[in-house]
Amino acid sequence: MVHAAQASIHAALRECTQRRHDTIEALLRLDDTLDIGRYGRVLQGFEAFLTAWEPQVAALLPLPVAGRFLARSRLGFVRADLRALGLPRWPLPHSDLPRLPLGSPAAAFGSWYVLAGSALGGQLIARRAAAQLGLTPARGTAYFHGWGASTATHWRDYLTVLADEVPATGPDAAQACEAARATFDRLIGTFACLLDERVAA
Ligand code: HEM
Repeated sequence: MVHAAQASIHAALRECTQRRHDTIEALLRLDDTLDIGRYGRVLQGFEAFLTAWEPQVAALLPLPVAGRFLARSRLGFVRADLRALGLPRWPLPHSDLPRLPLGSPAAAFGSWYVLAGSALGGQLIARRAAAQLGLTPARGTAYFHGWGASTATHWRDYLTVLADEVPATGPDAAQACEAARATFDRLIGTFACLLDERVAA
C-alpha cells in the first residue's frame, strides 16, 4: 500500500518490499554457511530470471531510459560466471518462466528497482564469495561484483530517473509497488524451486 504521506517513490518501494527482501535474503543464505553448490544454483537462478526479465522491462521503459537500462545489464556477467564455474544454464526452458504481469512504464520502473537495488547487496556478496570460496570477478563473482565502483553512481542515477518518471503517490506509484512485489515474488519462487527449500509464508 502507498501512503499519502510517502516522501518519495523510492521510500514507497523500499517500504512495500522490505518484508520480501528479508525473505529472499533468508532463502539464499549467502552468509557464512555459503558453499559452492548453493552459490552456483543462485547464479543459475539469476541467469534464468534475467533472460526472461530484461527484454520485458526494456520494452516497457521510455526509449532513452531503455538504452541506459540495457547498457547496465549484468546478464553477460552472470553468464561469464556460469562458464567460469563450468555450470550449465538452468535446464528449465526459459519459456517456462512466465512473464511478469507488468503492464506500464511505472510497473517497469518498479520491477527495475528490485534488480537495481540488488546490485548494492551484491557488493557484499561478492566479498563473501571471495573470502569463503576463493572466487574473483574473473572466476565466479562477476555478477555480484557487477559494475563495481560504479554501482553507487548507477543506483543514484536509477533513483533520479525513477523520481522523474514515477510520482510518489497515486496509480503509477501503486503500479510500481505492485510490480516490485511481484518481481520479488517471482524471484523467491524461482529460488525456492531451484534451491529446493521451503519459504516461510
Ligand atoms: C543474501 C542476499 C542479500 C544480501 C546479503 C543483501 C544485502 C543488501 C544490503 C546490505 C543492502 C543495502 C545496501 C546499501 O544501502 O548500501 C541491500 C539493498 C537492496 N537489496 Fe539486497 N541483499 C541480498 C539479496 C537481495 C536480492 C536477491 C535482491 C533482489 C533481487 C535484493 C534487492 C535489494 C534492493 C531492492 C535493495 C535496495 C533497498 C533500498 O531501497 O535501499 N537483495 N541488500
